[in-house]
Amino acid sequence: MGKCDWKEPPNNWSHRTRAAHVGYDPFLSMGAVRPPIFSVSTFSVENAAKLENMFRRAYGFDAPLEPDEEWPVYTRVSNPNFIMLCDRLQCLEQGAENVRAVYFPSGLSAIFTTVLATCQPDDTLIFGYPVYGGTDHQFRHLIPEKLGINVVPVDATDLNELERTIKTHASKLKILFIETPANPSLAMIDLQAVADLTHQLSDAAVVVDNTFMSPILQHPFSFGADIIVYSGTKSLGGHSDLIAGFVVDRDPQRAQKIHSTRVTTGPTPSAFDAWLLFRSFDTLEIRVLQAQANARKVAKFLEDHPAVEHVIYPDLFKKNSREWKIFQRQCEGPGSMITFDPKGGKKEAYAILDNLQIFGLAVSLGGVESLAESPWFHTHLDVSDEDKRKSNFRPQTLRLSIGLEDADDLCSDLDQALKKII
Ligand SMILES: Cc1ncc(COP(=O)(O)O)c(C=O)c1O
Repeated sequence: MGKCDWKEPPNNWSHRTRAAHVGYDPFLSMGAVRPPIFSVSTFSVENAAKLENMFRRAYGFDAPLEPDEEWPVYTRVSNPNFIMLCDRLQCLEQGAENVRAVYFPSGLSAIFTTVLATCQPDDTLIFGYPVYGGTDHQFRHLIPEKLGINVVPVDATDLNELERTIKTHASKLKILFIETPANPSLAMIDLQAVADLTHQLSDAAVVVDNTFMSPILQHPFSFGADIIVYSGTKSLGGHSDLIAGFVVDRDPQRAQKIHSTRVTTGPTPSAFDAWLLFRSFDTLEIRVLQAQANARKVAKFLEDHPAVEHVIYPDLFKKNSREWKIFQRQCEGPGSMITFDPKGGKKEAYAILDNLQIFGLAVSLGGVESLAESPWFHTHLDVSDEDKRKSNFRPQTLRLSIGLEDADDLCSDLDQALKKII
């Protein structure tokens, strides 16, 4: 750990250097090269006026704190491990200045709190399908039924349909939510076109779930997004040992509102999980790039396999197709998620899942270990069959998260499982 400015790194620092240095000043902890875990509920403040000031900020009465004014008062509000983590994530995002990150105990909590902080009953939220099954459940059920917010699903790959929908709801539109590449179809949504349309026609915030790509492979702020959300459980955490979420907002005032909504509704992550995540950020780029290198080999292997009907992976998009052009413009790599249809139906898909030896039969993604699951019957079970078909997946579709094992071993494992169905 050097003597750098640990809050504001030089502009020429790469992702890898930022992810390993920013956020922690060893000289605030007696020179300890790694940060301690602040397993603490409450914090002392030098005088009563400063404590009042902290509460004014926490409740959103005053302007957000400048990063070097941050001082925790109570762990539901903040904690040193949360502050370090948010400083580190903020400096990984590109395409906007002064962005603010807010840490959540899960990705779904980050999404729900963003909606709660941004919308009133009777407002409209438009989302581009498909999205992660839990997000879909929030949008189609919980948020309209419990909060009275009008939620409108749209095929955001169809910009004409999107434009018509935004025009219809423009006056009350508060959020335009998209996931790209989408879970599980890897549908590519043109972020710049969606942001331009939304901003021309309404005052809504464009919220992008960037979980699949991570801040290493896609920078939604560079294409006009207003808010980025993450399931930190995935490649940010990277070891399948915690649940976490983040909101990163280009508007510090709105970030403060989202933060104070988290504070007052209560979901609070643990200092230990924040410490684990901070440690994971050190290796984020190297993990993401190695998993991607493995996924490239596995996708090619699947494409050539006689038991496989169709593989979706950005490297394999048809050259000059709509999605290929978006992928080239928007992403810095294809990532480590592969969706494929084996020949046959549910029976064959389940035979593959049940015979895999190295791949874990488990949901989630972005971890060290490779995982396989059925979007139709597992993660997206709650989505209607009609919506699943509209989102381009079928009962036999399988989703793979490629990890850090040897790519040849992963191909051999898939080969022996696929051979069970031919
Ligand atoms: C793309 C995406 N967004 C959000 C979530 C929800 O995150 P969490 O499980 O951390 O609540 C998930 C979970 O799988 C996901 O895949």
